[in-house]
Amino acid sequence: MALVCRVGGGAAPRSLRWVPAQRRTLKLDEVRVQVCVASVNPIDVKRAAGYGRKVLSLLGAGGRELVLGNDFAGVVTEVGPNVLHVSPGDRVWGLVPTGPQGAHRSEVCVPSRWVRPLPAGTLMVSAAVLPYTFTTLWRALKAVGLHQHNAASKHVLVHGAGGALGQLAIQWLSRWGARVTAVCGGASAARCLALGATQVVDRGTTRLSDLPSDCDATLNFGTWADDADVLGRLHAGALGHATTVHPLLGHIDDRGWLTGGLACLREWQAMRGRQRAIAPKARYAWTVFKPDVDAMDAIQSSLLSQPLVLEVGHHTRFDQAESAFAHVGQGHPTRAVLVAPT
Ligand SMILES: NC(=O)c1ccc[n+]([C@@H]2O[C@H](COP(=O)([O-])OP(=O)(O)OC[C@H]3O[C@@H](n4cnc5c(N)ncnc54)[C@H](OP(=O)(O)O)[C@@H]3O)[C@@H](O)[C@H]2O)c1
Repeated sequence: MALVCRVGGGAAPRSLRWVPAQRRTLKLDEVRVQVCVASVNPIDVKRAAGYGRKVLSLLGAGGRELVLGNDFAGVVTEVGPNVLHVSPGDRVWGLVPTGPQGAHRSEVCVPSRWVRPLPAGTLMVSAAVLPYTFTTLWRALKAVGLHQHNAASKHVLVHGAGGALGQLAIQWLSRWGARVTAVCGGASAARCLALGATQVVDRGTTRLSDLPSDCDATLNFGTWADDADVLGRLHAGALGHATTVHPLLGHIDDRGWLTGGLACLREWQAMRGRQRAIAPKARYAWTVFKPDVDAMDAIQSSLLSQPLVLEVGHHTRFDQAESAFAHVGQGHPTRAVLVAPT
């Protein structure tokens, strides 16, 4: 079975149908997993409305009918002859790279490098909400040049801190010993402090431009309109700034490859120019999700020692997925998951 999303956009509403799907043969290095839980991320809701269709068509994921989803947890039912680290019957979690066939299915076939054994005592739901979001965070941290060996006592500003990326950033950076200033809506303040933020700034009452420019790194997970003000918080010797909320996919959707691509280049150059004037050696990055083995390993080590936490605010069955998409589309700071019908 697969949750097929008929992509909406404009006046056309999206539709989600839980329908029979064909089984395919496993490749040598693949794992077949019976999916028990899959998460719904903001990208799924956006793609269901047509976002990213032009760029993602390069990955075969730009059609009008898509199976969405990147994250899953479940039970291995078959492994290819080259797979050694998991066996049939194992409980696992994993990632489906963005493509035409996502994780919103009763069964996924994925290269074994995107699957890890679920540590004893870990709930499937707790692991299934992490891969896509943590991998994106991992890439943003890498892009700004922050890592385990240089992060201690660095000051990092996280914008959009109440969301899933922000919550993971606070937890991960504070484990590395960084000082995190979390910029969030007032309702998220207590959550950000509890997760380890050193300081919380309510974006409803304080302007970003009024904050001191004393950060070693800045991460924008909030909104592109704030990018200049977020990177304006860097000091002259800062490491860098990364944003996940850039106009790359949107401009190319709206204006086409050439005009959209040129608009992106102009905006990227303008913003990097602003940053160079403030912090000449700092890196400037538009972060895009891409599967990453090191990020998978980092999630696994956290599950084995000190699990990262992303609260799940909504569970529903695959065959009743609309409410999960609605929950995420409403911008709740908690994730939604789809669970297999029993
Ligand atoms: N480029 C990529 O490949 C990629 C990958 C993953 C995610 N993303 C994008 O990155 C963003 C964050 O992802 P996420 O998973 O953390 O999403 P999320 O869980 O929906 O959180 C987004 C958070 O942004 C904050 N926010 C909302 N409106 C805002 C505004 N106008 N100004 C400032 N902050 C605002 C809210 O937090 P507060 O209540 O705390 O303010 C909200 O919880 C999303 O837009 C997502 O689509 C991009």
